[in-house]
Amino acid sequence: MAKIVIKGQKELSGEINISGAKNSAVALIPAATLCKTKSTIYNVPEIRDIDYLIKIMEHLNCKVEEKDGAITIDSSKLKNKPIPEELSVQMRASYYFMGALLAKFGKVEMSFPGGCNIGARPIDIHIKGFEELGAKVEIIKNRYIIKAKKLVGKKIYFDFPSVGATINLMLAASGAEGTTILENAAMEPEIVNVASFLINMGVNVRGAGTKTIEIDGNKNVDNGVVDVFPDRIECGTYIILGALVGKNLKIKGIIKEHIGALLMKLTEIGVDYKIEGDTLTISKCNDIKPVNVKTQVFPGFPTDLQQPITTLLTQAKGTSYIEETLYENRFKNTYDLNRMNAITNILTLNKLEIRGPRQLKGTKVIATDLRGGASLFIAGLIASGTTEIENCEVILRGYSYIVEKLTKVGADIKYIE
Ligand code: EPU
Repeated sequence: MAKIVIKGQKELSGEINISGAKNSAVALIPAATLCKTKSTIYNVPEIRDIDYLIKIMEHLNCKVEEKDGAITIDSSKLKNKPIPEELSVQMRASYYFMGALLAKFGKVEMSFPGGCNIGARPIDIHIKGFEELGAKVEIIKNRYIIKAKKLVGKKIYFDFPSVGATINLMLAASGAEGTTILENAAMEPEIVNVASFLINMGVNVRGAGTKTIEIDGNKNVDNGVVDVFPDRIECGTYIILGALVGKNLKIKGIIKEHIGALLMKLTEIGVDYKIEGDTLTISKCNDIKPVNVKTQVFPGFPTDLQQPITTLLTQAKGTSYIEETLYENRFKNTYDLNRMNAITNILTLNKLEIRGPRQLKGTKVIATDLRGGASLFIAGLIASGTTEIENCEVILRGYSYIVEKLTKVGADIKYIE
């Protein structure tokens, strides 16, 4: 089994370039099936989820060419085929084919999506939304068969501003007659990124990035071109690392409005950083203060940085508390952090106590999920001795060229097959 091996306590300096956002790219690729012929997506990260999405696109008879971080998709021979379970379970984002293929063909058949095991993660809000637009949804065991003679735009209120449901309904609404209005929509940057792609291919979308999004259906779209936004979670992860072991470490490719909640929290913790243009420079903070963190939807503190910041708070002088409001099973990383000599206690299902400061010690650990894996590689980089991270494939699902990027700035980190 492959593992990442880290010899910790090396100072990191130089520059880390941020890749395109996983959670945008994984929606933009299925969205490309809406185009009649060609579309191009630039700045696509090299991660496992993208490899599997391309396999699904090829299964649907699309031609996909990859060159220098750009992918060009020819969907002129797209065929509506059921998506096999062995492909759809590889990642969460396979559910975006539901919205896209429903818009395009009025029918889609696939199984429940996969993704990190961090909670139940139902897709009831997506399904309710498709039904509001006129689709009939049949669920046989694990398989979803969604059909619509025609989709008709209407006003849909989300019970919760789900990122996935907002994007899926934007995709489905692009194939509906008339206008769809999504109320209580998610406001994450990924929504804006997908809206910009839809607008570029010819769908009229208004209000993305606010709580109300309007989409005028238009099936006659083509030649979509889009740049994937920089990955705000990858960016936040490396900023957190910089606060622990950086020496004028430069993180290049940031959009500071996308990481506002993290930057505020770091200021509260006592971390200094400097932003010039799209580059943030950060050095090790020698006086880390304990804080309370509550995860929220954008623009609140992102759940995807909760596990990485937990590792930072093991170094704070005092006790910190984390409240995880999005997922009911996102503290699994703390078991291994404690084995590395941290003191964390799960107080309730969604509340974590972290007592610091603790000198972390390298040992063998297991990455249970993507961001939990990130919290462990940060821990390995500050720990004494050697840390071996097993099941490290989950980390490669979200961090493009992680070993190369960290080696370039001075880390002792290896990927061993
Ligand atoms: N939810 C429902 N019903 C639904 C949809 C969501 O109850 O129909 C609940 C979920 O169970 C969860 C909460 O609502 O408790 C948030 O879910 P949301 O739909 O917003 O998240 P998602 O689309 O499943 C995306 C990212 C996640 C990220 C969340 C929140 C992708 C592929 N995944 O998930 O990313 O945590 O938004 O920002 O875009 C990661 O990158 O590590 C990751 C897990």
